[in-house]
Amino acid sequence: VKVVGVIGIVGGTGPQGRGLALRLRESGHHVLIGSRDAERAQVVVAALPAPVAAEPGRIVGVDNARAAREGEVVIVATPWDGFEAIGAACADALAGKLVICCANPLRFDGDGPMPVRLPEGSAAELLQHHLPAAVVVGGFQNVSAITLGRLSETLEGDVLLCGDDEHAVARAADVVRAVGDLRPLHAGPLRMSAVAEDLTALLISVNRRYRSHAGVALTGVEPFVGGDAA
Ligand SMILES: NC(=O)c1ccc[n+]([C@@H]2O[C@H](COP(=O)([O-])OP(=O)(O)OC[C@H]3O[C@@H](n4cnc5c(N)ncnc54)[C@H](OP(=O)(O)O)[C@@H]3O)[C@@H](O)[C@H]2O)c1
Repeated sequence: VKVVGVIGIVGGTGPQGRGLALRLRESGHHVLIGSRDAERAQVVVAALPAPVAAEPGRIVGVDNARAAREGEVVIVATPWDGFEAIGAACADALAGKLVICCANPLRFDGDGPMPVRLPEGSAAELLQHHLPAAVVVGGFQNVSAITLGRLSETLEGDVLLCGDDEHAVARAADVVRAVGDLRPLHAGPLRMSAVAEDLTALLISVNRRYRSHAGVALTGVEPFVGGDAA
């Protein structure tokens, strides 16, 4: 169901940005895949698989500044250590807009993945620091790019949304509903993003052991109409 307008994905050329773009296209949305280099974005878009949906939206490759400017809602899909550069390139264009942060600050050693502790608390709070006039909501951290990209497969599970602005979280919930059959859950203020981000290290650990693509699905919660993320 088409629920939101044009969606910009800053740093959308990686697996996560591409996967989100493909799913949003399936639900009829127009998506701008942003890159530091517009030509690179165009090459990435040209290589995307054909849509499965009968009436798909369109995906266009642009530079990050344009994705930020023309996106009505913007997803930042770069690694967390790119946020300073993203702030410099996009902060003005993102003033007053909903920005969804899906970054997981992780490191890997011989024992597997571990969260990286950021002084700001979470990647989402770091992004908010670099985009002071935007309204940042954490989400999609626990949805694997591989699962997103498999368009012929049903995509189910919960997306934990963390944000300080109720209206912004509700809008982010509309974006989640436009990505496969994912269910949005309001999981608390922006600072709770740290927990969602850490959870990804645990999921990767599980997935390595079981050779799986497990995501998050909470039991025993049925959002009521008019409820938090509704
Ligand atoms: N991969 C997954 O399964 C997954 C799942 C959940 C969440 N995430 C999170 O989603 C984000 C994207 O993941 P990904 O695997 O797609 O990452 P990625 O491929 O490493 O990076 C995505 C894009 O970010 C841009 N970028 C990289 N470094 C940058 C910098 N220093 N400054 C500005 N732009 C930079 C690059 O685009 P250009 O070179 O075209 O500018 C790159 O193609 C990450 O924060 C990750 O933690 C990933």
